[in-house]
Amino acid sequence: MEEAGGKVKALKVVALNGSARKSGNTAILLRTVLKELEDEGIETELIEMSGARIHGCLACRECSKRKDHRCGQTGDMGNTYIEKMEQADGILLGSPTYVADVSPEIKALMDRACLVSMANVGMFRRKVGAAVVAVRRAGGIHAFDSLNHFFLINQMVVPGSSYWNIGIGREIGDVEKDEEGLRTMKTLGQNMAWLLKKTADPGR
Ligand SMILES: Cc1cc2nc3c(=O)[nH]c(=O)nc-3n(C[C@H](O)[C@H](O)[C@H](O)COP(=O)(O)O)c2cc1C
Repeated sequence: MEEAGGKVKALKVVALNGSARKSGNTAILLRTVLKELEDEGIETELIEMSGARIHGCLACRECSKRKDHRCGQTGDMGNTYIEKMEQADGILLGSPTYVADVSPEIKALMDRACLVSMANVGMFRRKVGAAVVAVRRAGGIHAFDSLNHFFLINQMVVPGSSYWNIGIGREIGDVEKDEEGLRTMKTLGQNMAWLLKKTADPGR
């Protein structure tokens, strides 16, 4: 993409993995999507939230008062992640299924990023977003829906795949045996790259 001054700025996708387990199944699925994006020349970054400190939204409404694109809570990783999301053209949110829903870390980020976005008139508007979920057996579709609510309320554009973006596995690496799950991630990456290129704003 051409920037003012004739410089070309690469498209970028940031993937946030909300799993408590680093390099686990969610990370494997996210990396599968990212590989397809990289093959299309898109810059990528995987952020593992495992072990990071992130608190839930305090409902303090500081973000609405300040309107500075950041959360009023500054003592944890919230604003670091929000900044990464703001700078990217595409956002992948990944979560394992925990008791038929998303992990508390990714939920905390979604709640805070959502209020910050609303306070700043759609910070993530028209960025491309997609959800990725790892599940052992059941509840994955609910976790997938929870992640998609974030994109849709924030005016983002969501690409589809050949199935819902869910990979099946329990122990680390099990998802590599889920051939259909991996194929779904690859198709998602290809569709996300296509959409990013079609919707990229040359005036960014
Ligand atoms: C606290 C907790 C809750 C879980 N709840 C579910 C569940 O409701 N349904 C399910 O199928 N698997 C459940 N699992 C299994 C994980 O979703 C599964 O092992 C997944 O592959 C983990 O992804 P990760 O390797 O990225 O952490 C749970 C695991 C943990 C630790």
